[in-house]
Amino acid sequence: MSNYHIKNLEEYFQVYRKSIRNPEGFWEEVAEEHFMWHKKWDRVLDWDFTKPEVKWFEGAKLNITENCIDRHLRIRGDKTAILFEPNDPKEEAQHISYAQLSERVNKFANVLKAQGVKKGDRVCIYLPMIPELAVSVLACARIGAIHSVVFAGFSSTALATRINDCDCKMVITSDGSYRGAKTIDLKGIVDEALEQCEGVETVLIAKRIHSDIEMKSGRDQWLEPLLDEASADCEPEIMDAEDPLFILYTSGSTGKPKGMVHTTAGYMVYTAYTFKNVFQYREEDVYWCTADIGWITGHSYIVYGPLANGATTVMFEGVPSYPDFGRFWEIVEKHKINQFYTAPTAIRALAKQGTELIENHDLSSLKVLGSVGEPINEEAWHWYNDNIGHKNSPIVDTWWQTETGGIMITPIPYVTPTKPTYATLPFPGIQPALMDENGKEIKGNQADGRLCIKFPWPSMARTIWGNHQRYKDTYFSAFENMYFTGDGALRDEVGYYRITGRVDDVIIVSGHNLGTAPIEDAVNEHPAVAESAIVGFPHDVKGNALYGYVILKNFGETRNQDNLRKEINQMITEQIGPIAKLDKIQFTQGLPKTRSGKIMRRILRKIASKDTSNLGDTSTLLNPEVVQDIIDNAL
Ligand code: WTA
Repeated sequence: MSNYHIKNLEEYFQVYRKSIRNPEGFWEEVAEEHFMWHKKWDRVLDWDFTKPEVKWFEGAKLNITENCIDRHLRIRGDKTAILFEPNDPKEEAQHISYAQLSERVNKFANVLKAQGVKKGDRVCIYLPMIPELAVSVLACARIGAIHSVVFAGFSSTALATRINDCDCKMVITSDGSYRGAKTIDLKGIVDEALEQCEGVETVLIAKRIHSDIEMKSGRDQWLEPLLDEASADCEPEIMDAEDPLFILYTSGSTGKPKGMVHTTAGYMVYTAYTFKNVFQYREEDVYWCTADIGWITGHSYIVYGPLANGATTVMFEGVPSYPDFGRFWEIVEKHKINQFYTAPTAIRALAKQGTELIENHDLSSLKVLGSVGEPINEEAWHWYNDNIGHKNSPIVDTWWQTETGGIMITPIPYVTPTKPTYATLPFPGIQPALMDENGKEIKGNQADGRLCIKFPWPSMARTIWGNHQRYKDTYFSAFENMYFTGDGALRDEVGYYRITGRVDDVIIVSGHNLGTAPIEDAVNEHPAVAESAIVGFPHDVKGNALYGYVILKNFGETRNQDNLRKEINQMITEQIGPIAKLDKIQFTQGLPKTRSGKIMRRILRKIASKDTSNLGDTSTLLNPEVVQDIIDNAL
């Protein structure tokens, strides 16, 4: 029996049990049957969570792009690999076949080589959702360069931090990007960032909006003429299983962003295997994930997972609201989408628009609906199920993280009975545990605790770039011999998991992870600000929104408070990006602090959520009197 495609619940349990009893045998079988190796592994797994060190398929040699492209050429050369849907619905969609993708990736890889990029070099990719983004990612992988994609909504300061953290020698960008009715000057943002990045030698620029941009001689080059001249043959670099494939930054609760390092073989095997099963992908299907490749969801489930299965994967450049809120459904109808994977925040925004914009589209092609990035609330789940799936397309609520590389807890559609707001059961190979506050595992069902994973899985991040100690401290120190996710979860009476949210100072706003500390740092940069504290509060579209408590240096500040609020949000936009802007800013004279000077965020969170009935004992605070004052002036 092949493990590769799980077809019913009994088989799921069988496969799951096997994957736990003999993880090495299980993953070896998956890896043996479905991929192209230059040399197979000497050892399937070597691990030690105390160091922590994890190695999968050690000794194996491969190139992931041969698995995502070359091996499909004979049987699927003419099949569409990437279906590009532009921002403007009047612009024609592009169907890029596997054969064309091969040519484009090889040419791009040769351009990188000609520019001096070698195996192990870091290349920063700062591009909108245009085909060059996927192509450049794959071109890096082709030659063994480590890509570091930075979401093109990040500011120049955020971009510079990420470029410098992993010493990128090249940046790939475009002259600009379209976003609904707006255009964005991406090249200008790159220019600004590079004022702080000495290590960058070359900037390659794709043409997208045909704007007039400044070219810095000796550094900037248009991509097109270089591609035109490049050869369409590029021998893949043969990589070791554990060679880094990419770095992707994610926010921590404190400090600078963490460059999560993913390696080659395990990541490939896991993303391919999960893609096939979680979306029940069949050869003729057209699959669409609405994420941006700048996030892990795009890496694993727009690029690598789908292409490793020879799938047709849609890349959408635009936004759900342009030209109107019917755009997603128009695309589903136009390309006869079979699997649709999006975020709860998009579902909630679309649900607000009513159903007229859905009813005039034929959504009957849909077979599977996915959700990712944050907990999906009951109302949004039902809206999605009723209006988009018409109760015929199972919803896969997939829980996972940048760090996990692939989907960890999820229903398998048509296999696992779904339950609103529950991510349900662990994927084969995944061994979750719920831990109590004393570090003990809570066994049995109907439990509630901190979500950990007990055993390694192939696509887990191996380290934080340049800071292995931080990797250990963040993920392997809270609980002995466990990977700690940072999330809370509960397990119901049948063993289904429901993710309840972050238990640290990371706030998920519209599906984007934001650390409070970096935002506070940005706010504190404003000359009028003395101190600040940021917490999340529930928001009906974004899931969470940000509430800032700000102490001004001069409380009697005579400037207009609304102007100050605008300036503070402007600081945040410059330092991080518009996604981190505060919804509410309350000016206050003090912040509740413990005697050791720590801000009591628990109290601030409650006030921001308008839940002041049970603030707990505030008498031990250094300054209990500020609490009432903050409540009285809450927004
Ligand atoms: C949250 C995104 C509830 C969770 C793939 C996690 C979820 C963080 C779900 C990782 C889900 C993701 N239900 N919460 N289905 N999926 N999360 O790194 O808090 O951008 O720790 O990876 O998103 O976000 P990241």
